[in-house]
Amino acid sequence: MTTETLAAAKSNVEKRGFLDVDIDPTLDLFSEIKRLKKEKNAVLLAHYYQDADIQDVADYIGDSLGLAQQAEKTKADMIVFAGVHFMAETAKILNPKKKVVIPDLKAGCSLSDSCPPPLFKKFKEQHPDHVVVSYINCSAGIKALSDVIVTSSNAKVIVESFPKDQKIIFAPDKNLGAYINKVTGRDMLLWNGACMVHEIFSLELITKLKVRHPGAKVIAHPECEEPVLRIADYIGSTTGLLKYTQTDSSKEYIVVTETGILHQMEKASPDKKFIPAPPNNGCACNDCPHMKLNSLEKLYLCMEYETPEITMNEQLRLAARKPIERMLEISAKAGL
Ligand code: 13P
Ligand code: SF4
Repeated sequence: MTTETLAAAKSNVEKRGFLDVDIDPTLDLFSEIKRLKKEKNAVLLAHYYQDADIQDVADYIGDSLGLAQQAEKTKADMIVFAGVHFMAETAKILNPKKKVVIPDLKAGCSLSDSCPPPLFKKFKEQHPDHVVVSYINCSAGIKALSDVIVTSSNAKVIVESFPKDQKIIFAPDKNLGAYINKVTGRDMLLWNGACMVHEIFSLELITKLKVRHPGAKVIAHPECEEPVLRIADYIGSTTGLLKYTQTDSSKEYIVVTETGILHQMEKASPDKKFIPAPPNNGCACNDCPHMKLNSLEKLYLCMEYETPEITMNEQLRLAARKPIERMLEISAKAGL
């Protein structure tokens, strides 16, 4: 590749989302990624919804809380975030001096997109006596408007850390918010956002599957809608779901979340059967199209050329950092 070709591709990264250059087809990308990690003192953090080959080459695979905790404590010079934008952005908020790269800058999140900061600011101003609890699946702009951030594994503990009579706005996921209202007996005001993947599961098809597999337990992520959660035997974050399948005695599970998690479930319990819950229209919509924008090729390119990189205005970063730190402190105290 000529210097001109590389410079042109680099100048196009923002628009394209990734560095669009050819890769030598004879390269073993697994060994190349391992070499780059060592050479650049980089840590590769991956979410459970990433493709299996990305998970297999990662240093740490986790849910949103685990990934934020790893990002906070890493000694690496460069953080390579195989996940979606808000996750890499959280890593940057916690590590202003480190370089944070992501395989595809366009790997967004429908839930995060459902809550634009200018609209949310107006909503917040209409409820000045409420504190703002925001799910980590939101932009830095929303985090900066929040009092505390939560993930699906610590939301209950964090909401319960407020006095019972404290008025709370919960954003942006109405399904997780409704679930937390139910388990805590609170009446939080919910922003009307949702995840396109977790809203697509069909209650009817899951019920039919359950008839065909009477011994199977239904395990679901709390981003799912209430009727689906009502029939679940266990509800939890991706890490929670994985741990449940490792300790529970059943042999079969209907897994109501994004399909990427099945890779670790199958690895941890090869003797068990994991059935991905069907979406309501026969498509592959239980794969998150944002998470799946990342590929091994884009991962290699972002490590080799250190682009696309997450950058952020310092004032925004400082405002967004406070509620994340509060989340990490409460979680540590609760032993999460
Ligand atoms: P967790 O992995 O924290 O459960 O979140 C799931 C999710 O939808 C991430 O985008
Ligand atoms: Fe966002 Fe849903 Fe994809 Fe998670 S699975 S990144 S919440 S769209």
